Amino acid sequence: MTSLTPLKNDVFLRALRRETTPYTPVWLMRQAGRYLPEYRATRAQAGSFMQLAQNPMLATEVTLQPIDRYNLDAAILFSDILTVPDAMGLGLRFVEGEGPVFDRPLQDEVAVQRLEVPDMGRLQYVFDAVAKIRSALDGRVPLIGFAGSPYTIACYMVEGGSSREFKTIKSMMYRRPDLLHHILMVNARATVEYLNAQIAAGAQAVMLFDTWGGSLAHHAYQEFSLAYMRQVIQGLTREVNGEKIPVIMFTKGGGIWLDSMAESGADALGLDWTVDVGVARAQVGHRVALQGNIDPMILFGSDEAIRKEVRRVLDAFGPNAGHVFNLGHGISQFTSPEAVKVLVDEVHSYSRQIRKS
Ligand code: CP3
Repeated sequence: MTSLTPLKNDVFLRALRRETTPYTPVWLMRQAGRYLPEYRATRAQAGSFMQLAQNPMLATEVTLQPIDRYNLDAAILFSDILTVPDAMGLGLRFVEGEGPVFDRPLQDEVAVQRLEVPDMGRLQYVFDAVAKIRSALDGRVPLIGFAGSPYTIACYMVEGGSSREFKTIKSMMYRRPDLLHHILMVNARATVEYLNAQIAAGAQAVMLFDTWGGSLAHHAYQEFSLAYMRQVIQGLTREVNGEKIPVIMFTKGGGIWLDSMAESGADALGLDWTVDVGVARAQVGHRVALQGNIDPMILFGSDEAIRKEVRRVLDAFGPNAGHVFNLGHGISQFTSPEAVKVLVDEVHSYSRQIRKS
């Protein structure tokens, strides 16, 4: 491995370890994206979203854009959760206005039985981007690697794209649970290899995005989503050169399952905006750190409304160790870049203030 500059700002990693920090660190889900004019310019230069994600030089450029613009405390790899099923041969395309589409979704038994953990060489562009971003960051802030949860990527693999009802995957779940379990087992193994390769390339924390686990019934969440995330976490490299690699688990709509999520082996849980972060903290106690959880739509409010909601979330968590500020889900592409600055600066200044009082 190349020698890398020590971190100049490790507040994010310390908060994930539940150590006291001078202020609450903040980063935003989808911080590199279409709400930034500089992102739109680089994306136009690359051609498509996948051409951008597959070009380590341009992926590095867009990862650093929000870091250059705001006082964020972490960078996140610019990529997508669907790179893994793409490498499995399902044929990923992003259709303008429609989102992701797979040309070869898993809709019959033969396709499911053929599914295999892909050769990680097919995802080399991701690991090259991680290494390039780490060196471009030059220790400014830590780099987060990520993957989708086995269940969330299965939703796209079986449905063939975005879905509102999840009719195809839920039909499989209730008719042929053995087939769905097979997909989830392959996905979990692939995700372990994928995240470990990101960690080997330089990712300093990793996050599992379980965007659709919250669409499941209580028992089904435990059996089809959480169990496989737990399996992924058990397979991860948790320490590199004496540095712990924290794992963040985010199930959108998972506020009702925090107790079992806190037992999953994750170091931190991501929360969407439907939960009170103070109540969540009381529930998980000292088992895990928490990340979140302002409604991303607050960024369409007035500057004063944004500051007020930031203070509400910080007050709810209290001046305790173990909070990473974030949105409750990805930032909208229609957000004004100026509103983001109001939010980030208020997180830093108000969290410093409540630690003094
Ligand atoms: O957070 C970041 O800045 C890092 C990059 C990142 C992207 N996708 C880039 C992206 C991350 C962490 C993701 C995760 C992801 N991708 C999730 C989980 C998080 C969530 O939002 O729930 C999911 C479900 C996906 C799948 C996906 N990728 C969809 C449904 C879409 C289309 C949606 C849309 O807004 O058009 C994407 C495309 C995508 N991934 C974009 C970005 C910046 C927009 C692409 C563009 O430039 O056109």
